[in-house]
Amino acid sequence: MEQHSRTDAYADRYAARAAGMVPSEIRALFAMVARPEVVSLAGGAPYVSALPLDAVGSMIGDLVAGRGAEVLQYGSAQGDETLRELICDVMALEGVQGSADDVVVTVGAQQALDLITKIFIDPGDVVLAEAPSYVGALGTFAAYQADVVHVPLDEGGLIPSALRETLDRLRRDGRRVKFLYTVPTFQNPAGVTLTAARRAQILEICAEHDVLIVEDNPYGLLGFEGEPMRALRADDPDRVIYLGSFSKTIASGLRVGWVLAPHAVRAKLVLAAESAILCPSNFSQLAVREYLLTQPWREQIKAFREMYRERRDAMLDALDQLMPDGCTWTRPAGGFFVWLTLPEGLDAKAMSPRAIADRVAYVAGTGFYADGGGRRNMRLSYCFPEPHRIREGVRRLAAVVEKEIRLRDTFGGVEHDGPGGVHTPGPGIV
Ligand SMILES: Cc1ncc(COP(=O)(O)O)c(C=O)c1O
Repeated sequence: MEQHSRTDAYADRYAARAAGMVPSEIRALFAMVARPEVVSLAGGAPYVSALPLDAVGSMIGDLVAGRGAEVLQYGSAQGDETLRELICDVMALEGVQGSADDVVVTVGAQQALDLITKIFIDPGDVVLAEAPSYVGALGTFAAYQADVVHVPLDEGGLIPSALRETLDRLRRDGRRVKFLYTVPTFQNPAGVTLTAARRAQILEICAEHDVLIVEDNPYGLLGFEGEPMRALRADDPDRVIYLGSFSKTIASGLRVGWVLAPHAVRAKLVLAAESAILCPSNFSQLAVREYLLTQPWREQIKAFREMYRERRDAMLDALDQLMPDGCTWTRPAGGFFVWLTLPEGLDAKAMSPRAIADRVAYVAGTGFYADGGGRRNMRLSYCFPEPHRIREGVRRLAAVVEKEIRLRDTFGGVEHDGPGGVHTPGPGIV
């Protein structure tokens, strides 16, 4: 990758912001990770094969045959009105009362992140983000030259006292925080969920410091136990900009997500969307609209939940049985990811090529930090491989970690290879 930039004849012409756009570490390893003999616990792609593909296919065929002139035409920058109303019904499942007029349909939640960052962030502005944070959000913040300040999380999600301390410190330093970025439910990459008590505290602290919250919630309906959590947005509509997505509940390839924002912010977002893309794809939007109107989508989400729960169980059982002492990991109650911490002295990034040589892949933790943190961490996803492959992947991983521990005990440490960085996500590691 570096060699590529050294020989880039255009390097002296790029805008300063392009310097923050660097490929993710896994991209370099991607060709090997994609080999069939490698069990990839790296990718975060949803298992779309579980959809009733024949039914979806004929629904889309009928849509084009019956209403092609509308489906294949430009639409409005804000998005299809009926779809926006249906999106309000979906958000109501998490206690959110929004008006369709305050919803903007986007090209996945990723574009929502881009638009929000574009309208709020000047170079050097402070964004608070959980440590670790979703790699795609960190890539967007880097592209707009934000100064990301991390706030740690634990098994109960973002830590309120740490948030308060960080805000107090930044205030003393005379620095204004533009927004807090958080994935409160079934977090990517940590798999943890903000507790109900902490939700109230986070809202209170942000109100005291007058900080906006960007709540990114693509996994909220994929919980394995009980009812969906109440979204932050449900309890403070003026402070919280809510991001949703159909990538995990319908299909990621349709690229349909949305923002629900306070009215004034919504108006800016529509203008920003218009300049970026004119309008989101009518084809995709009307496919989602038709799916929500004619297909049993609630039952399908239930089927997704059951499938992902079985995979989560396969991963946790295998980790419990096989991982050597000194490793710890989170126990997600929904979503796609487990966050594993290696024993002292091990380095997940340095170990990654050795794991791939032993036919198992993960994403090293450093990609999820803007400040080089996460050396001892890795993200393991259970969303895509089938349970027997997950077990095999964990078996291989446990053997790699054991070897690494022996190496550490013999040579007193495992090499580090330079600081971490902020990366664009690259194919398959969302
Ligand atoms: C936390 C988080 N936010 C946003 C996204 C982007 O999703 P979308 O496919 O809706 O663009 C992802 C994708 O995995 C994600 O995990």
